[in-house]
Amino acid sequence: MKAHVLDGKAFAAKLRVTIAGHVAALHQAQGIVPGLAVVLVGEDPASQVYVRSKGKMTREVGMQSFEHRLPDTTSEADLLALIAQLNADPAVHGILVQLPLPGHLNSDLVINSIDPAKDVDGFHISNVGLLGTGQKAMVPCTPLGCLMLLRDHHGSLAGKHAVVIGRSNIVGKPMAQLLLGDSCTVTIAHSRTADLAAMVRQADIVVAAVGRAQMVPGDWIKPGATVVDVGINRIATDDGGTRLVGDVDYDSCAAVAGAIAPVPGGVGPMTIACLLANTVTACCRANG
Ligand code: GUN
Repeated sequence: MKAHVLDGKAFAAKLRVTIAGHVAALHQAQGIVPGLAVVLVGEDPASQVYVRSKGKMTREVGMQSFEHRLPDTTSEADLLALIAQLNADPAVHGILVQLPLPGHLNSDLVINSIDPAKDVDGFHISNVGLLGTGQKAMVPCTPLGCLMLLRDHHGSLAGKHAVVIGRSNIVGKPMAQLLLGDSCTVTIAHSRTADLAAMVRQADIVVAAVGRAQMVPGDWIKPGATVVDVGINRIATDDGGTRLVGDVDYDSCAAVAGAIAPVPGGVGPMTIACLLANTVTACCRANG
């Protein structure tokens, strides 16, 4: 039996329609337009694609997009000064500094200089703490998008064993916190986990966020399990081109799983939709 496909592209499109409705209502009722500032330092090609796409989607739902592109020679002091200016700007409700930053910049220092109320990535240490203690936090967009897909498919996640492969601050750790918040039994696995295959075979839900192309084969998946693939890896094709693949081997996993979020078209579109949703949330909180 072929797995049910968790269609993040369609889900995100519906979510953006809802967000556009909220944006229009905010404008009509209070004359406010939510604004998202995105800061890109350097020329990383993948980051440039993401930032362009974020700006386009922001405008499409009727919000204001402020894009700041800085050279990779930018000093930490200049970047911190820009963030201070955005923190103080009442037209900016959300601030996102695209990662990774060039090596001479201290990412933790930069992220923690963002006003936590405008931290739509949910990376500021105070949002991390709020999420970890079950309080009202800004929640990181990629894990939030995964959670929405899982809730939409399963309804309640209570009692399910979720194995999150990957322990990054951006995906793995906040994903585990969110699943715990939905009463899953959560295991965080990673590159040093002993017998990763045996661990993943126990999972009702597998979230793969390791950044290694097609690393999870179908014979690691318990029949009927749900697989959410967070990976975005570009691999060479036989005809000399390239194509995007995830962290799971799609065909063999889809043959065993009950449901699977594909790459592309699964988690990716959800991430940007959640960023827009977080910006509207930040705007609403800022304006009572
Ligand atoms: N780089 C890769 N993913 C992300 C993300 O979700 N937010 C930011 N700011 N940078 C990223």
